[in-house]
Amino acid sequence: MKSDSVFQLQTLNLITKEQLESYTHEIVGILGVAGGNGIDQIDLHTTKKIYGFDINKEYLNTVQNRYSYMGQALELEQCDISESTFGLPRTDLLIANLIIEYVGQTEFVSLIDRNRNQIRVVSCTIQKNQEKGFVSQSNYTISL
Ligand SMILES: C[S@@+](CC[C@H](N)C(=O)[O-])C[C@H]1O[C@@H](n2cnc3c(N)ncnc32)[C@H](O)[C@@H]1O
Repeated sequence: MKSDSVFQLQTLNLITKEQLESYTHEIVGILGVAGGNGIDQIDLHTTKKIYGFDINKEYLNTVQNRYSYMGQALELEQCDISESTFGLPRTDLLIANLIIEYVGQTEFVSLIDRNRNQIRVVSCTIQKNQEKGFVSQSNYTISL
């Protein structure tokens, strides 16, 4: 793995930790959960449910294997969050790190708006790195 990628994962892990510590929650949702980076920061004493959403089934399988000790607290769903049929369960804290680059701001805002009665806090991270460009190839780089 390239050192840039490792650094990015470590940074995202720390950001997720900060997000979890900043907002009280019993139910957490993670959009674009990928390989589950940051889930290790969740305190199972205070968090009753963790939802992970991703379009990529292989990533979700990795998350399932990696965090199998979380049992039924961890629920993973393969889905396309940009589809208008996608709905969120009740969530205290919704984390969306490096996913808006994939779905676009309009779709993302529309998703949040449609589900606003289900979510208490949304915390998101976008990446803008002028020198190295986006880590995730995105059609939305210019507007982000
Ligand atoms: C850069 S990764 C997210 C990084 C991760 N949140 C972290 O903290 O390490 C983007 C993820 O979004 C997922 N994704 C992209 N488009 C999606 C969509 N329309 N619906 C659901 N997941 C999507 C990809 O499969 C990928 O796992």
